[in-house]
Amino acid sequence: MKHLSLPSQLVIRQHERLTQQSLLVVNAPDPEVADILPVVAHWQWHAGYAERWQHQQHEVAHHFDVAPPATTTAEAALVWLPKEKQLTLYVLDALCHLLPPGAPIWLVGENRSGIKSIHKQFTDAVAPSQKVAVGCHSLLICTQVVQSTKHFDYQSYFEYCELPQPGQDTPLQLASLPGVFAFPGIDAGSAMLLQHLPHWQQGQVLDFACGHGVLGAWLNRQAPALQITYLDVSAIALAATKRTLALNQLQGDCVASEGLQTSLGKFDYVVSHPPFHTGLATDYVIGQQFLGQVAQHLRKNGELWLVANRFLPWPELIEQAFGHCERVAEDNKFAVYRAQQRS
Ligand SMILES: C[S@@+](CC[C@H](N)C(=O)[O-])C[C@H]1O[C@@H](n2cnc3c(N)ncnc32)[C@H](O)[C@@H]1O
Repeated sequence: MKHLSLPSQLVIRQHERLTQQSLLVVNAPDPEVADILPVVAHWQWHAGYAERWQHQQHEVAHHFDVAPPATTTAEAALVWLPKEKQLTLYVLDALCHLLPPGAPIWLVGENRSGIKSIHKQFTDAVAPSQKVAVGCHSLLICTQVVQSTKHFDYQSYFEYCELPQPGQDTPLQLASLPGVFAFPGIDAGSAMLLQHLPHWQQGQVLDFACGHGVLGAWLNRQAPALQITYLDVSAIALAATKRTLALNQLQGDCVASEGLQTSLGKFDYVVSHPPFHTGLATDYVIGQQFLGQVAQHLRKNGELWLVANRFLPWPELIEQAFGHCERVAEDNKFAVYRAQQRS
């Protein structure tokens, strides 16, 4: 049980409280909880967790998407609190549409996740929450659906911003959703990378960890002949990317994946602002794996361009993978790195 996330450990300790009704679990990282709880359905937007659930829990109805399942046989929901408050409110709205009035909604999260104060953000659609259990540096609370939401459409949660782009008559339009990186705008590090990216005219580009698609869409507006693949672990990020593409009359392949996969093939350019968090936790493994594999996904003379917080150990890893690492630009927070596949 030690390998499970702390909230999952609390849930398992408290399983007797949670066995009264069939459950829809939401955003749960650990499929093992369904060995103990009466889980009938699972809503997930993290591609890696979704794969593990599908692999391990064959009796559960799986749903990997930005939107909630259309219907469920579950009588209650158990939510692993997302890091972002707006995303929690989005999930609660969705559950108030899916479940009938009176249905319990359990929420579990690490103490540092904001779970202690999340009730202050609740709307009238749910009842005031009650503390149910503490332990494993986590808290389990419970609320109920008061009013079922008649209509739920994830598209009504889009927020938009514009980014002026030199050489273009109109700004780049960006769509974002709760839970997407830098919601509802654009991150300063990503903006810095855009100022330095070359004007490639043709070839295949991978926008790794694309978020709302800002890097790839920027490049594609400069050069319509580029073929861009947008990859992210999050179904919510990919929904935002698809909307960004539509707003700018662009096209691209959108891939839901936890890290690089051999089947992606090779590219002429890879651009990224790689993540260094999973949920609340700092996680260098994603960046380490990406930088360990990315050279194999570049054609000869292909280029990697990335931006990162300066404290991250990416330059050493880029050197190990490519034999060199060029620091193209930096400010007091971020640096832009470049490397070329020479073999
Ligand atoms: C720092 S954000 C960058 C987003 C976007 N490129 C930008 O510049 O605004 C990192 C992105 O990595 C995604 N991510 C996290 N873990 C990942 C993984 N294992 N594989 C692919 N993407 C991942 C997150 O969903 C997030 O969208």
